Amino acid sequence: MSEERKQDHIELTFKSQTAESQNYGLVYEPMLSPLDADPDISFDIVGKKLKAPIWVSSMTGGTAKAKSINKHLAGAAGKAAIGMGLGSCRSLLDSNDRLEDFSVREQIGDGVLFANLGIAQVEQCILDTQVYKIEEMLKKVQADGLIVHVNPLQEYMQPEGDRYKQSPITTIKRLIDELKAPIIVKEVGQGIGPESLLELCRLPLEAIEFAAFGGTNFTKLEQARHDAFKSGKKGELLDFATIGHTAAEMVEWVNRILKKDKVLCDKFIISGGIKSIVHGYSLREKINAPAAIGMASAYLEKALVSQGAVEDLISEQIEALKLATLFLKRSSFEND
Ligand SMILES: Cc1cc2nc3c(=O)[nH]c(=O)nc-3n(C[C@H](O)[C@H](O)[C@H](O)COP(=O)(O)O)c2cc1C
Repeated sequence: MSEERKQDHIELTFKSQTAESQNYGLVYEPMLSPLDADPDISFDIVGKKLKAPIWVSSMTGGTAKAKSINKHLAGAAGKAAIGMGLGSCRSLLDSNDRLEDFSVREQIGDGVLFANLGIAQVEQCILDTQVYKIEEMLKKVQADGLIVHVNPLQEYMQPEGDRYKQSPITTIKRLIDELKAPIIVKEVGQGIGPESLLELCRLPLEAIEFAAFGGTNFTKLEQARHDAFKSGKKGELLDFATIGHTAAEMVEWVNRILKKDKVLCDKFIISGGIKSIVHGYSLREKINAPAAIGMASAYLEKALVSQGAVEDLISEQIEALKLATLFLKRSSFEND
């Protein structure tokens, strides 16, 4: 066996040359940790403990396929004790027809599960004095809280898209006053600029999810869906698909906000365009606040195959996260 290994080393040496390192802005510290350690990477949110700081970002619901996707995601999230957001639960506000698509409490066990609504539906419920409908919806899916997604550019690109009359921050403040449940606010893949982030950090939210630019882009997706764009009529709106902020930019703004301002929310889900768990880990190392790493499309790809495929991805991610925790650090020489 040892002889075979030595022979492999000789043969594979020339195929194993590296060019530039990809440290994601961190430093590699090989001298400081044992190799057989099992670092604690647990993460607290909504009074519960995730075994790893990993979040399955909100995706789907409301179609037949969504049911199996959600069950696969929740089953795998439950086994690994990581958190999960459901896709928009709008259809459950007025009907139970699609409740089965979202009923994954059994799969996720007592893990962290958040329901999801768009800002337009939240505004409508508030204007109609029907916030109780949101509370009922949370009970139906046995969620630990509500994620509100704010996606003006995506909505604008859809002819049937929702419009809202008030600024999202006004609506979110009213929701906090009226809803007795933890709230997370997110974008859907274009990130959040610094003033908006600051306003959110000043509110008593459970967390802010970045949903940053660089991965799935719904403005682009909606432009691809609609005839007006396809026939070239709305060419001047195409630029909006490239508007947004990456998670790296947002980490810097959060750090600046935390340094200068008094905040009520200092917990984050770093998501949107996270290319690998080590990429996510690097951003988590750089943010000066508790943070989990979220991904959507990477899990969707596996959930379309099977629950086992999602489980395999998550366990690889946990393995990589633990290894990164031992050997990849933020440089203490940074500010010299
Ligand atoms: C198929 C699909 C459906 C989505 N639906 C929702 C949704 O209902 N609500 C929401 O807040 N975000 C939704 N998102 C956005 C994701 O939560 C996430 O913010 C975005 O995809 C960026 O993450 P990614 O680059 O890892 O895919 C959806 C994403 C995908 C891929």
